[in-house]
Amino acid sequence: MPSEGQAPFIRIEGVTKDFGKFTAVKNVSLDIFKGEMFALLGGSGCGKTTLLRMLAGFEAPTSGRIFIDGQDMTGVPPYERPVNMMFQSYALFPHMSVEGNVGYGLKHEKVTAKERTDRVRQMLDLVQLTPLAGRKPHQLSGGQRQRVALARALAKQPKLLLLDEPLGALDKKLREHTQFEIMSIQERTGITFVVVTHDQEEAMTLANRIAVMDHGEIRQIGAPTDVYEFPNSRFVAGFIGSINMFEGEVTKNGAGLTISVPTLGGDITVSSDAAAVGDKVTVAVRPEKIVISRDRPEAVNAISGVVRDLGYFGKDSLYRVSLATGALVSVNSVNISRGGTAKTADWEDKVWLSFDPSAAILLKD
Ligand SMILES: Nc1ncnc2c1ncn2[C@@H]1O[C@H](COP(=O)(O)OP(=O)(O)O)[C@@H](O)[C@H]1O
Ligand SMILES: [Mg+2]
Repeated sequence: MPSEGQAPFIRIEGVTKDFGKFTAVKNVSLDIFKGEMFALLGGSGCGKTTLLRMLAGFEAPTSGRIFIDGQDMTGVPPYERPVNMMFQSYALFPHMSVEGNVGYGLKHEKVTAKERTDRVRQMLDLVQLTPLAGRKPHQLSGGQRQRVALARALAKQPKLLLLDEPLGALDKKLREHTQFEIMSIQERTGITFVVVTHDQEEAMTLANRIAVMDHGEIRQIGAPTDVYEFPNSRFVAGFIGSINMFEGEVTKNGAGLTISVPTLGGDITVSSDAAAVGDKVTVAVRPEKIVISRDRPEAVNAISGVVRDLGYFGKDSLYRVSLATGALVSVNSVNISRGGTAKTADWEDKVWLSFDPSAAILLKD
């Protein structure tokens, strides 16, 4: 966790990477602290892997510098960095047993045979693969292979472990399970992790801090709650989770902002004073922050509409409500009661939508 006054374990200082005329990473500056589980999150092609490869030393920055543990990494080859990288494809040796794969990286280290055996045993224990030590990769499930790759990367006891889309090949249940396993390994070992993913849920679950990337640039860095509840831009708001966004203009500033939002058919109140009268802004509201009801609620922000679409997911329902202006609003509602009356509203029902002024996000970019 970053704490005040602590020197960063990794300092990325104005790093740019060009491939010919194409800039894959643009002037990225970023500090990562010891023991963090840090996620680089962004769509395909935004430069995540390139940034990770520069940390590992497989690519050199075109400009800027990278420090690890206080040392300038310029010109330091991968094998001399206190870093290990686990690749997108786990690249296990098919002819070697689980044990052989985990110990492989240690053959080139200056460790005794006894220490190697001990470490392999410890690592297998850590990822709960001891009973499968003698198996070959093809005799393992995807999740087990992933854990072998993780154990192999951990066996070298790096100070920094880089994971590139580590769970990409796993199905949803296994992903969730493995996410928690990685988190618990991280807690037990104290190793600093940098994880690259395009999956926002994965970043939210795993990481204590997330850097959201777009076209080689970092758009926002923060805790999962920061980037979700306090996105700094339309891009980040839209990239993380789903959200309703409406254009408007500030008409009054005092006890919150009054914003005229034509698509919502009137004025909306937002708890903020970060804009001036006349500013063009975007009001963003997450679907789960909107309350749907049949009766008109006593709320500052209340809008009527008709249910056009309804998805029932068991634990919750997603409604798409059309307003008189033609705008569609997404609402997510937890199904707290059971039985035939579980749904708050049905197709074509006339409903009211309401949200608290503090639930709305004011965005200017
Ligand atoms: N060695 C390379 N030569 C040329 N272009 C590259 C090279 N490596 C990556 N790129 C380009 O840089 C961009 C970022 O790639 P990458 O870092 O792999 O993105 P991500 O991991 O976020 O999907 C992509 O457009 C990719 O095509
Ligand atoms: Mg990649």
